[in-house]
Amino acid sequence: MNRRFDVLIRNGSVVDGTGAARFGADIGILGDRIVCIGDLGDATATKVIDASGLIVAPGFIDAHTHDDRLLLSDPHMSPKVSQGITTVVGGNCGISLAPMPRPIPDPVTPPLNLLDEGGKWFRFSTFADYVKQLEATPAATNCAMLVGHSTLRVATMTDLTRPASPDEIAAMREMVVEAMHAGAIGLSTGLAYAPAIGAPTEEVIEICQPLVEYGGIYCTHMRDEGDKVIEALNETFRIGREVGVPVVVSHHKVVGAKNFGRSKETLKHIQCHMATQEICLDCYPYAASSTILAPHLAANATRVTVTWSKSLPEFAGRDLAEITEELGGTQEEIIDRLLPAGAVYYRMDEDDVQRILAFDQTMIGSDGLPHDEKPHPRLWGTFPRVLGHYSRELGLFSLETAIHKMTGLTAKNFGLADRGVVHEGAFADLVVLDEGSVDEAATYDNPIAPSKGIETVLVNGTVVWNGGKPSGEHPGRVLRRQRGSHPAPH
Ligand code: ZN
Ligand code: CU
Repeated sequence: MNRRFDVLIRNGSVVDGTGAARFGADIGILGDRIVCIGDLGDATATKVIDASGLIVAPGFIDAHTHDDRLLLSDPHMSPKVSQGITTVVGGNCGISLAPMPRPIPDPVTPPLNLLDEGGKWFRFSTFADYVKQLEATPAATNCAMLVGHSTLRVATMTDLTRPASPDEIAAMREMVVEAMHAGAIGLSTGLAYAPAIGAPTEEVIEICQPLVEYGGIYCTHMRDEGDKVIEALNETFRIGREVGVPVVVSHHKVVGAKNFGRSKETLKHIQCHMATQEICLDCYPYAASSTILAPHLAANATRVTVTWSKSLPEFAGRDLAEITEELGGTQEEIIDRLLPAGAVYYRMDEDDVQRILAFDQTMIGSDGLPHDEKPHPRLWGTFPRVLGHYSRELGLFSLETAIHKMTGLTAKNFGLADRGVVHEGAFADLVVLDEGSVDEAATYDNPIAPSKGIETVLVNGTVVWNGGKPSGEHPGRVLRRQRGSHPAPH
């Protein structure tokens, strides 16, 4: 019998996302699902993609993003689909666009201004309103969204330096219930940032309570990623245990020259605690970080580049030491003049980056900042850099393992059902790529550039990227977390 599909991907080498070895097969797609994998030589299709000599893999899941607004303001999602990303996890580091039941302070409280400096995008009074908008005007990629603790604090409190009162905790918890009911997959914190530093561990535990009933996950930009990184891991594990939810250690790293090499210690500590509770982690493949410009962050970096500045926009892309020399004064004074602003900080050890990337359970997340004038190259380059630089060139792990860290592992950890694998019945989120040439094109100097070797990208059976440009289609969906998808270890 002559089978007919909507889309047929022929002659590809399939890397299925589970970590298993590749195999040659055709893939038949009907609607939004993969319906047949095998020798489909006699089949026909409305659209045929020839993948001879190419890899066919599950579309990548970006485990850590700040795409809350990009999904609405630039729905082609070019920085993402150009890398083969088909799903983004948003609302990280305590920062989500919703809910904002009262007008956001002007100027927008850092680091919430990473999502929108002007503030007009913080216009969704409930999480449900935000989800409704994402569904009414979909993006090219799927998304799975967290509600941010700092956003809740800004929406609830005026003095952000102190612990929340019992009434404020109750109000924030109500908002978590609303968000989870509307489809959030969990809650994020950014305990290292000013709006949340004043929150004790107990506040987080209280606010996270509704996650249990809704099967949510807790993701955290920890209180400390330097000298006190072990204490910060312990706080994270305690929150996970006392609430009874899985935790995600976001963008795991150790910063500051005197902590170089300590990933040996942190990974051992994480591994040890994984035996008794659910712990996940993600990492971006660079030895420089990026966030808002702040004196305490600049202090332990060997070099700082300004990514944007509201007060002195002409200095975007320039070296902080250079600007300081040019304008005269101390570094602190210059930072003060540039604020509000963003920066890239060179403050990690490459050996630590590689050790964390290579750790079995590490997922890949870009942590890209899509609204920066001159963004960190991780925004456009993360996934192809792992495939090209770290897997192919350095041999840190096989292509199959690299892809697993971007797909199957991530879908399992976040409870994204029928995503992250090339299986019959799974959603047709797929990337066709050239193993020999896949690589980042983005650099620190020229950070806005589509990657090399990403040929075709499909989301829910629809092509979103082909021939080096977006198709203009927006088939993305808001994904919910499947309950019990990640059973506790014994
Ligand atoms: Zn963060
Ligand atoms: Cu982040």
